[in-house]
Amino acid sequence: MPSDTLSLPFELSEEHRMLRDAVREFAQREIAPIAAAFDESGEFPLETVRKMGEMGLMGIEIPEEYGGAGMDTVAYVLAMIEIAKADAAHSTVMSVNNSLVNWGLYTFGTEAQKQKYLAPIARGERIGAYSLTEPQSGSDAAGMRSRAVLNDAGTHYIINGRKSWVTSGPIADIVILFTMTEPEKGHHGITAFIIDPERPGFIRGKKEPKLGIRASATSELVFENYECPVENILGAPGQGFKIAMTLLDAGRIGIAAQAVGIAEAAYEAAVGYAREREAFGHKIGQFQMIQQKIADMKTRLEAARLLTFNAAIAKMRHARTGARYTTEASMAKLFASETAMFITHQTVQIHGGMGYSKELPVERYFRDAKITEIYEGTSEIQRMVIARRELGLR
Ligand code: CAA
Repeated sequence: MPSDTLSLPFELSEEHRMLRDAVREFAQREIAPIAAAFDESGEFPLETVRKMGEMGLMGIEIPEEYGGAGMDTVAYVLAMIEIAKADAAHSTVMSVNNSLVNWGLYTFGTEAQKQKYLAPIARGERIGAYSLTEPQSGSDAAGMRSRAVLNDAGTHYIINGRKSWVTSGPIADIVILFTMTEPEKGHHGITAFIIDPERPGFIRGKKEPKLGIRASATSELVFENYECPVENILGAPGQGFKIAMTLLDAGRIGIAAQAVGIAEAAYEAAVGYAREREAFGHKIGQFQMIQQKIADMKTRLEAARLLTFNAAIAKMRHARTGARYTTEASMAKLFASETAMFITHQTVQIHGGMGYSKELPVERYFRDAKITEIYEGTSEIQRMVIARRELGLR
């Protein structure tokens, strides 16, 4: 297929190639054929998500000693692209599990927390969620109203409040929760907790009926006098906002890869259709107006892919040098998500009426692409992050 030529400024290793090919084969055989039905029903595709776990896809960057596949961020991006290409909803679950939950436990967890929580999540036996957003605080993440108050004995935090837009909220086995422990300190008063949903006071709230990624489960989470033991603090008290932001740097690479995957699927559909469909006695690909679209789509797709791998490499460099990769992650997410929106839009247009029909996956790509411009920081927030760092404002 046309976009199969992976343009990269480096050679993929044999291990990377093997992973990509295995994930591609799995995703096209097991996920692509069921994607439309799960999109239609909105049911969570637990069986295929479990299979992804068995393949090591739910803990790609986590060392094997903690249940992961022990691979790197390039491997994560390659796998995310292939899963997203088959079905964006599956890749949403994978992305949150890998780059927000696993990465959070691995980077900030104590040894005991890693042993207890990380390994089952990294093996994909359990599913994790990341809960930052609240009904009144999305982009302004520090403006949260939920509260955690230490009890008199100093053993537990009592948590109250409502979180929203939690990916995997309806089914998560653990949740990384960000809540305010010292409101007078602003964002320095936010603490991260590892939440066990089995404890009393944890309520899975209303499920979100969504435009796209419909098979991924999204809900509110309500905390009513939930007692969280102090040993479940992730990192240190007051470090929560920094942890949330650090993890979003990693998460945004995952969403960039998801956007590239959706864009690739759409682009391949558009090229295939332009080669076959006839109008006015010619294949429509012979018309310059279609050719212009194809050229623009291909160019933007390649650029999105390069920015995404660039961010993956920056994250790997961070492990050696400690240098932040915030700008690289935000640029990749910004450009790839807008590219996915552009390409899926053009793909619908090239398909005409068939692009609007549920008989083809094209309209699903279009609906799924939109979320990549919104979650894990809107395009407006990515621009703000990039500009602030360029201007030395943060
Ligand atoms: N890495 C490390 N530290 C960071 C950081 C990063 N990427 N970004 C900010 N910080 C630190 C700053 O250095 C600063 O630290 P000090 O005060 O100690 O100096 C602190 O965090 C506060 O930073 P800002 O002053 O920049 O904070 P702000 O209130 O202006 O907000 C923001 C910054 C970038 C807008 C941030 O609020 C943000 O990213 N908003 C978007 C939130 C988001 O992406 N939400 C998605 C949630 S997940 C989801 O979508 C659902 C799901 O399930 C997938």
